[in-house]
Amino acid sequence: MTMICSRAPAKTILFGEHFVVLGKPALVTAIDVYAKVCIKDSSRIIIESKNLGEKLIKDVYEPKALLPYLRIVEELLNGSKECFHAIIDSEIPIGSGMGSSAATAVAFTHALSRYLGLDLDLEDISKIAYKAEELIHGKPSGIDNTISTYGGFLYYQEGVFKHIDIPWPQDYSLILIDTGVKRSTKVAVEKVLKRYEKKKSIMKYLYDAAEEIVHEAIKALKRGDVESLGELMNINHGLLVSLGVAIPETETIVHESLRHGALGAKITGAGMGGCVLVFVKKTEVRNILKSISQYSKAYYVVKPGVKGVEHW
Ligand code: MEV
Repeated sequence: MTMICSRAPAKTILFGEHFVVLGKPALVTAIDVYAKVCIKDSSRIIIESKNLGEKLIKDVYEPKALLPYLRIVEELLNGSKECFHAIIDSEIPIGSGMGSSAATAVAFTHALSRYLGLDLDLEDISKIAYKAEELIHGKPSGIDNTISTYGGFLYYQEGVFKHIDIPWPQDYSLILIDTGVKRSTKVAVEKVLKRYEKKKSIMKYLYDAAEEIVHEAIKALKRGDVESLGELMNINHGLLVSLGVAIPETETIVHESLRHGALGAKITGAGMGGCVLVFVKKTEVRNILKSISQYSKAYYVVKPGVKGVEHW
């Protein structure tokens, strides 16, 4: 029996979330938390998600949550009558800004295309995964499927992606700390845009500062300047507070982490809940985790800059 598996990484936004919506750059990285998809032989088309606890059997039972994958199937089968059983098993928490749906769509496209013997390049995989993303999110920026496909570090501005080759400082980690507060990206983005419109003459300086932070952060990473990187994260967080996306839960985690030795801490993603990103020397990880344990629902100590989608 043939069984083909692929995995694709989650992402975190290092710098520039929200500012990116109005044309400023963002710096994003792939992290070592994965969505995995395996495809095996079957006499029907079955798509099963262990995370959602749902099983789609084509033309018999098609739950809404799994329809985006059927979109990928149609694209790849292109009229052929082949059958298979896909099993989705992801480590990435849903709805916490880590790009879980995109990573799953990328891993699904990669695994199924290999199962069907199609010779797709990474650009094709990313594009097809984006079609599934459109069904879930409307018109997403494409950051999530791109980073999940190519991995590494990505500079994004106004629809243009640039892969940047930067080393990650070996003795340092990122911790993603989930506040457990569910938030809607749409609501957060609308709130920020409203404030921007109301206070444009002030806000434009914050947006310019955010752009400068991204450029300075890339330089700091290239020189391995961890102090500067942490400081830039703290400034970026201050800007996000000014946009109005901080909540008491994110602030407590940011302040407790810094108080216990983190070099930098900031909201990552839409804010108003979701995750806080903490930059820390590996030897301090335990200390920080202890200090925030009562405030976090879950945490992930992650490695940035990992490879994109691959055979697993
Ligand atoms: C959400 O993960 C990131 C935001 O910048 C929204 C977006 O870029 O679409 C808040």
